[in-house]
Amino acid sequence: MSNQDLADLIRNVPDFPLPGIMFKDITTLIGNGPAFKKVIDLLVERYRDQNITAVAGIESRGFIFGAPIALELGVGLVPVRKPGKLPAETYQIEYSLEYGTNKLEIHRDAFEPGARVLVIDDLLATGGTIAAASKLIEQAGGTVVELAFVVELGFLNGREKLAPYSVHSLIQY
Ligand code: PRP
Ligand code: MG
Repeated sequence: MSNQDLADLIRNVPDFPLPGIMFKDITTLIGNGPAFKKVIDLLVERYRDQNITAVAGIESRGFIFGAPIALELGVGLVPVRKPGKLPAETYQIEYSLEYGTNKLEIHRDAFEPGARVLVIDDLLATGGTIAAASKLIEQAGGTVVELAFVVELGFLNGREKLAPYSVHSLIQY
């Protein structure tokens, strides 16, 4: 199964969540067992020998991919969550989204000293979400090894905004 086969399983939904936006719907990709497995295998293969000590998954769609990758790498999963969800002491950051603003939080004690963190989200659009998440991860003492996505909307130039972080994606539009 090629990356193009994976791309073909992503559904385009016009005018969601707002008129004029073509939504890239990954539910049709993850609903296909072999395709979901292929996505996880490709990312695990890339990071297996990079001494990753934690995977950070971004709520909510980042959890879908972050959890199986962490499991396969044999490391813990750190959830970066929307506000008011994490019970212990957190760091919080506000950021602007493709449509609106939002906040993210991380537990202050999420990482062991020297943590090498792989950051996972489903999709890179403007880069606002992952930039905010990366700041939180560093605030909590983690070192960001790479930012990995299933889908990258290249025409939004999120990757440029994220320099000097290393960015990896499986499918580009
Ligand atoms: C979407 C997507 C990414 C983010 C990308 O999440 O899952 O996390 O937007 O956009 P950006 O690069 O412009 O920041 P969303 O906040 O819609 O929520 P969800 O994951 O909970 O569905
Ligand atoms: Mg998201």
